[in-house]
Amino acid sequence: MIEFNIDDNLLKIETKNTLYAMKIVHDKYVAHLYYGAKSDFLRDMYKEYPVDFAPYVADIGANFSLNTVSTELSFFDSGDMKDTAVKIKNANGDSTTLFYYKSHRIFKGRCNFENMPYSRNADETLEIVYVDEVSGCKLYSYYSVFEKSDTITRYAKFVNQSENVIQLCQVNIAQLDISQGEYSVITLCGDYAKERNITEYPIHNGIQRIYSKRGHSSHQYNPFIALKEISATEDEGEAYAMEFVYSGDFEAQAEKSFDGKIRLMMGLNRDTFSWNLEYGEDFWTPEVILTYSNAGTNKLSQNLHDHIRTHIINPKFVYAARPIVINTWEAMYFNIDEDVLLRYAEKAKQLGIDTLVIDDGWFGERNNDSIGLGDWYVNRTKFKDGLKIFSDKIHNMGLNLGIWIEPEMVNPKSEIYKRHPEWVLQCKNRSGSLSRKQLVLDLTNDKVIDYIVEKIKETFAEVKLEYIKWDFNRSLSESGSLFLPARRQGETKHRFMLGCYKMHKKLTEAFPEVMFEGCSGGGGRFDAGILFYCPQIWTSDNTDPVCRLSIQKGTSLAYPVSAISAHISDTLFNNLENAPDYDFRFNVALGGVLGYELNILNLSPENEKKVREQIQKSRKIQPLLLQGDQYRLNGLEDGEFGFICVSKDKSEFLLAYQNIGKIKRKRICLNGLDDTALYKSESGDIYRGEELLNEGIELPVNTMYTYFHFTIDKY
Ligand code: GLA
Repeated sequence: MIEFNIDDNLLKIETKNTLYAMKIVHDKYVAHLYYGAKSDFLRDMYKEYPVDFAPYVADIGANFSLNTVSTELSFFDSGDMKDTAVKIKNANGDSTTLFYYKSHRIFKGRCNFENMPYSRNADETLEIVYVDEVSGCKLYSYYSVFEKSDTITRYAKFVNQSENVIQLCQVNIAQLDISQGEYSVITLCGDYAKERNITEYPIHNGIQRIYSKRGHSSHQYNPFIALKEISATEDEGEAYAMEFVYSGDFEAQAEKSFDGKIRLMMGLNRDTFSWNLEYGEDFWTPEVILTYSNAGTNKLSQNLHDHIRTHIINPKFVYAARPIVINTWEAMYFNIDEDVLLRYAEKAKQLGIDTLVIDDGWFGERNNDSIGLGDWYVNRTKFKDGLKIFSDKIHNMGLNLGIWIEPEMVNPKSEIYKRHPEWVLQCKNRSGSLSRKQLVLDLTNDKVIDYIVEKIKETFAEVKLEYIKWDFNRSLSESGSLFLPARRQGETKHRFMLGCYKMHKKLTEAFPEVMFEGCSGGGGRFDAGILFYCPQIWTSDNTDPVCRLSIQKGTSLAYPVSAISAHISDTLFNNLENAPDYDFRFNVALGGVLGYELNILNLSPENEKKVREQIQKSRKIQPLLLQGDQYRLNGLEDGEFGFICVSKDKSEFLLAYQNIGKIKRKRICLNGLDDTALYKSESGDIYRGEELLNEGIELPVNTMYTYFHFTIDKY
């Protein structure tokens, strides 16, 4: 619900459990008042006071400085000396930016984006209109409300109403000023094969910043940032989060000033973004999700999970049974062989797997990673009768078929590059870098997008497919465009991202029945932008279960279980004394959507039996994992992992626990259950909800991993 109280110029946004409040002051400015649990004490929150060395607004007096007042949006060189959110370059060459509040309106629904991912089905939206009188630029700042998930999204539109060209230099469109408190900053940091490890430090004076300049959201820093009270736990205390619905270059930062105030911001990366706005043109920013919890980081994550499941992921797929795949990559790499695939399919069928996914290597001359990328026609040496006949054979065996593509990229050794060397991103007269022996297509050019989309459509036109894995295997560098004029080169990275989204839209619309899985060298593009098109994402190329524990735990902070593809493989990266067996691997895979990525023709009879049982169990618990509320277990020590997933009606829950640190754990306390219910384990033991909540559940001595599935017995 959004309300405007004209008596004290208060604008209030309420969700189920939170309140966000702002105040229009001196007719021209929008001050930030409050974001937190519902409260009636807003009236006295706004304060003005003089501070030395803080420039003040001359017309109003020394008490009003944009440096000391908390604001909804801050503007470069306008008297706010902290790092500011919005900067434009005026036609006269200076960059001083100051937008004044002009008006606002509240409306049902929201403004949907045509060419970018966004949160669907908002309840209501607040639009605040600002004008920079000197440059003639108008700024529409939006707050869309999603009451049930306790989330608000922020995005904006800039419109140039002057005769001159204005350059947008910085648009950190989500800003949250917090006036007091002791907080830690949480980010999800990592590297290739080590994605999204939780990084948490007490905030210190200055700026703590994460970013991507890679043209994808990156393995290194995920577009997510949270502030948590230092004393808060998974289950208690206050926390705030921002998450970007965007897959390209971003920045997110928390700045603490000496007076104890904190400013959280998120937006496009200022180093790699600029945009020329000509007369009458407009520019829409991507969207940032904001949420608040006063019940620890679990509630923060649950809000984001609910938001992503209800408002980002395609409703057609979000809760539909997910395929349990056998993916060929780790077993075959580029050595795709039709006869072996058919044997895989036969074995997969016996095991209960439902989808065979042919990974890289099925097209063009693609026999290794140096050749053929971008040539989207089937390799007739590998598939003698073509893909259609192969697909028919697979379907006749009662299996579904999936296939791998990487539409944004080419090898220099490819037919497409030979014909169109001008179609890849490059800077004039500068030699470009290779990465994984490949180059990136210039998706600022619609012709390139249309060509690739048409080729892929043509190749799959007759082929029955249920699953497409969409990869993106290098970061961008030397990212100039021969297609764009010199004055628009600063727009290349964002235009490239818009081109990627256009491709996603076209291909997902061309194959509406196909479930797409996102991927980028593992989890290098794991973000809410991609989830708009791909209901799940390949989490990491690291399928070692020990390494996966911290990757999946970090990922769960911002993304639901249903988004996390988790395959059982044979790979081993860790230095555990004993190689983890398939039971342990299955236990870890409970943190995501189960699949297999190994040579199923070589399974021992014992492991075959295990796989068969795992698949049966997975089918039984998958609906709970897709839809339930996840609580990471509170109070664990280093080396311990685990969560409980509780159905929304609290009639069922699953507990998964892993202990790789040899911690002597006897009991695990649970959260989220119905204290009045009686829960029955699979072995028939009955527990009272109250007992599980207060005393927890007892573990056998030296448990390394275990899981329990409980259903309600009776009230
Ligand atoms: C990336 C993906 C892998 C696999 C290979 C194929 O690394 O993460 O899963 O698809 O590409 O080249």
